[in-house]
Amino acid sequence: MTTPAFGGEVSEFYQRFRRGYPPEAVDELAAAFTLTRDDVVLDLGCGTGQLTRVLTARTGAVLGMDPEPAMLARARQATSAPNVGRLLGADTDVSALSPLFGHGRLAAVTVARALHWMDHERLFSAVRPLLRPGGGIAVVTNGEPLWLQDTAWPAALRDVVSAYLGTPLRSTCGTDTASQERYAAALSAAGYAVDQRVVEYATTLTVEEIVGGVFSAMSPGRLPALDARPAFTDRVRAAVAPHAPLREAVRVRLLTGTR
Ligand SMILES: C[S@@+](CC[C@H](N)C(=O)[O-])C[C@H]1O[C@@H](n2cnc3c(N)ncnc32)[C@H](O)[C@@H]1O
Repeated sequence: MTTPAFGGEVSEFYQRFRRGYPPEAVDELAAAFTLTRDDVVLDLGCGTGQLTRVLTARTGAVLGMDPEPAMLARARQATSAPNVGRLLGADTDVSALSPLFGHGRLAAVTVARALHWMDHERLFSAVRPLLRPGGGIAVVTNGEPLWLQDTAWPAALRDVVSAYLGTPLRSTCGTDTASQERYAAALSAAGYAVDQRVVEYATTLTVEEIVGGVFSAMSPGRLPALDARPAFTDRVRAAVAPHAPLREAVRVRLLTGTR
C-alpha cells in the first residue's frame, strides 16, 4: 500500500522544499466547481498537503488522501486548520468512499502533481458518481520538474543530477502537453465537461532550495549519503552559479472535468 518513493527522509524534503500553490489557483478551482462553505473536497495524492492547506480556506472541509503514511504525517504537522481530515489510501480506494459520498456529496476531487502515479481512466470513472452536480475533478500541476526546464540553470542542474544518478533525466511527471491531452481526452470519455485554466507566477530559488527540491524527487534509496551531500550541493552550486539569479517561471495548469 505504501509508495516507497515518498517514504522516510524524502517526505521531509518534500514538506520543506516543494512550494505551495498560489491563492489564484484555488480561486480558479473555487470558480470551476462553485465551491462553498458547505462543500467537501477530496485532495487525492495530497502528499504533505501543499494544496490541501490552501483549499481549507475556500471550502467547508478537505480530506487529504495518500497511500504514504510518512507524507500524511508531515501533512498533519504542517497545518492546524480545523477543517482537514486525512485518509490513508490510493486511487484504487476511492470507490470505497461511496458509502460516505455516494449520493453526490463530494464537490471536487483534486489530484495535484500525482496523477502520473494513478490509473487515471479508472479513477475518472470511479469519482463521477461521488460528485454533486456542478462538482468535478481537477488535475493540477505546479510548474515542470526543475530538471526539465528549458533555461540555462536547469540544464546545468540536469547534467549534475544525471551524472550522479548515472542515467538521463526524462520524467515529466505528467506536466507535458501530450500527457495533459491524454488526461483531457480521458476526462471527456468518462463524461466530464473539460476546461483548462492556467495561473502563472515567477520565483527565484536559492541553491539550497534547488538541492532540496531535487532530493524531494528522489526515492529514499537514491539520496546521497549524509556525508556526501555537501559535495553534491557544491557541484550543483558550481553548475548553476554562472546563471544566477536562479529564476523560474511557473505555470500552474488546472485541467478540470465538471460532472
Ligand atoms: C509529487 S507528490 C504530490 C503531493 C501534493 N499533491 C502536491 O501537489 O505537492 C505525489 C503524491 O502522490 C502519492 N501517490 C502515489 N501513488 C498514489 C496512488 N496510487 N494513489 C494516490 N496517491 C498516490 C504519493 O504518495 C505522493 O504523496
